[in-house]
Amino acid sequence: MLREWSHPYVCIADIGAHHGRLARALAEDGHDVVATELSSGGFQELAAHLAETPVAVRQGDGLEPLLDAPLDLVVISGMGSDTMLEILANRHRLASRPHFALQPVQGLFRLHRAIAVQGWPILKADLVKYRRRYYPLWLVDAYKERPQALPEAALFLPQEFRSSAHYGDWLKDETSRRQVQRPTDRSQQEMAWLKSELRHLEP
Ligand SMILES: C[S@@+](CC[C@H](N)C(=O)[O-])C[C@H]1O[C@@H](n2cnc3c(N)ncnc32)[C@H](O)[C@@H]1O
Repeated sequence: MLREWSHPYVCIADIGAHHGRLARALAEDGHDVVATELSSGGFQELAAHLAETPVAVRQGDGLEPLLDAPLDLVVISGMGSDTMLEILANRHRLASRPHFALQPVQGLFRLHRAIAVQGWPILKADLVKYRRRYYPLWLVDAYKERPQALPEAALFLPQEFRSSAHYGDWLKDETSRRQVQRPTDRSQQEMAWLKSELRHLEP
């Protein structure tokens, strides 16, 4: 899906590219790609994996190695939402104003809330199923902030995924996963919101 969403963009950065699978695929699709890794060991591995490709490889933390790059899209995938938000906090230091594709491995609710609170326009949102788990994917414009005071239910429920084919199944998974947790006032409220969302989906 990341490849498909990348189509309209020319210059793309993949932060924390690991072995560069996505970066390589994006280069094959004809994009100008920069791939980064945090540590010097990670960077050397990445560079070795991408040696035969046109992908530019840089080492550094988050957006740091990309400050001068002319970017249209930045992909941050495969990290926790806290790390992603730390990286995004530096976005105003970039010379360009790219869109961000965000695919965290954990912290869906935290990232949804941060996007909602800051009022970043969501250009696309979907859920991806991989090995029986669901992963969120957002495409946002993090430079058009419209901070808004939303009701708690809207800050919690990621209704931007309503149009995803996986939304109903994800809601069911999420409610059954939470059933084993010790209830608190907050968790009971969240469960009520999830269940009412499930009812809303029923024909
Ligand atoms: C689990 S891998 C995900 C790789 C790939 N992006 C994907 O989605 O499959 C996470 C990668 O992000 C890198 N990483 C973590 N924090 C980073 C940061 N602040 N800046 C750059 N890379 C980072 C790690 O070194 C690791 O290679």
